[in-house]
Amino acid sequence: MSRLPLSIVVLAAGKGTRMRNGRPKVLHPLAGWPLIRHVLATARALDLDRLVVVLAPGMDEVAAEVRGFAPEARIAIQDAPLGTGHAVAAARGELPTAGTVLVLYGDTPLLTQGTLARLLAEREKTDAAVAVLAFRPPDPTGYGRLRFSGDELVELVEERHADPALKAEGLCNSGVMAFDATRLPHLLDALPLRPEKNEVYLTDAVAVAVARGWNCRAVEGPWVEGLGVNSQRQLAELERLWQERRRAELLDGGVVMPAPETVFFAADCVVEPAAILEPYVVLGPGVRIAAGAVVHPFSHLEGAVVEAGAVVGPFARLRPGSVLEAGARVGNFVETKATRLGKGAKANHLSYLGDATIGAGANIGAGTITCNYDGFAKHRTEIGAGAFVGSNTALVAPVRVGEGAIVGAGSTVTEDVPDDALAIARGRQETKPGRAGELRSRLLRSAEERRRS
Ligand code: UD1
Ligand code: MG
Repeated sequence: MSRLPLSIVVLAAGKGTRMRNGRPKVLHPLAGWPLIRHVLATARALDLDRLVVVLAPGMDEVAAEVRGFAPEARIAIQDAPLGTGHAVAAARGELPTAGTVLVLYGDTPLLTQGTLARLLAEREKTDAAVAVLAFRPPDPTGYGRLRFSGDELVELVEERHADPALKAEGLCNSGVMAFDATRLPHLLDALPLRPEKNEVYLTDAVAVAVARGWNCRAVEGPWVEGLGVNSQRQLAELERLWQERRRAELLDGGVVMPAPETVFFAADCVVEPAAILEPYVVLGPGVRIAAGAVVHPFSHLEGAVVEAGAVVGPFARLRPGSVLEAGARVGNFVETKATRLGKGAKANHLSYLGDATIGAGANIGAGTITCNYDGFAKHRTEIGAGAFVGSNTALVAPVRVGEGAIVGAGSTVTEDVPDDALAIARGRQETKPGRAGELRSRLLRSAEERRRS
């Protein structure tokens, strides 16, 4: 771990035109998080003294994301999109002139703390002016390359300027660069403007440093970590790699997943060891699955907490604010939202439970619906411990079914049901002995008359 003061600059002012949808690139989601949040999270995991994010004017949505996730970060504005070198220069006023300045790109989300720590250690050990994180992606198209003289890194060459021999070597620039903070201002001052693109490249800092006789280094990291997002296709590829990495971590941690390639996670999901995730499960942001819980196939969870021994699905949908206490069960074609099921409570078939509290051991019959919305506001439904709600019941909220109460199947419950009461709220059945035969003969006669006419 770095001992010198550490400042991190995250560049995110680029327009991301290659994404082709007008959205700031760094807000595109990866594992349910905006790209930049992954980079900020990794930055914060290091022992850092200052975090600066470089944005373009008008990037209010990105600024809001940065302030929400990393309120300590300072925001510097790059007034025109004149390249990565120009972007770092825009952060100059925020940077101390001692220690290390680590530059990260907001579009490179798979970096890990360990790899960055290795790069920082190498820069300090060798007292390099610049240390670059290199990687060997299976497809190097679009990345800058590294030119060495012996062990010395002497130049970063953008792909369009690289000769075939250099390209063939396959070692690429991840964009992650660690600078000696004392020498960085001199390098920034000397970066040339590249007239063909009207940009100042940060990558030129290596050649500038070498020209001054300053030592530069490269550290090779795992290839996955260097990948950047410049297109929708690359974003999808990084999503695949992110998911693969997360599945491997969870399996290593003891989560049971017989078909891991069909299970998807958001960046902040917590799954405890010995939880069972069966095939085709999607866990969105804010999900927590405790040890010993089971999620059966084709279930979709977001913002849900599933406690020990609870069982979900198959085909269940848990929306934000759903909590299944220990041993609770939510079965097929059941949707829950802002609903807590107490210990051992069950809703096994075909229900919508929204804005509800369901007491321990309560049983919610098939087809039960909480009518929580009256077109203007949401209202709560409370069901007491041990209550039994018969099938196809509509609970018109706000309403309370007491502890131990029973609601007859097919009821439309509009009034509170006291503890231990029996409520039946449906049309009374009329039964007429023998009338089935009579009705059948009458229907048969009229059918014959129609045929004859
Ligand atoms: C850059 C590197 C390339 C490297 C690759 C790794 C340069 C000149 N090239 O190319 O060597 O292999 O990253 O992914 O640096 N940005 C600004 N202001 C600007 C321009 C860019 O803040 O004026 C930010 C972008 O928002 C982005 C990052 O810098 O987060 C990188 O910019 P991008 O245009 O994606 O550079 P690449 O072409 O990928
Ligand atoms: Mg890029």
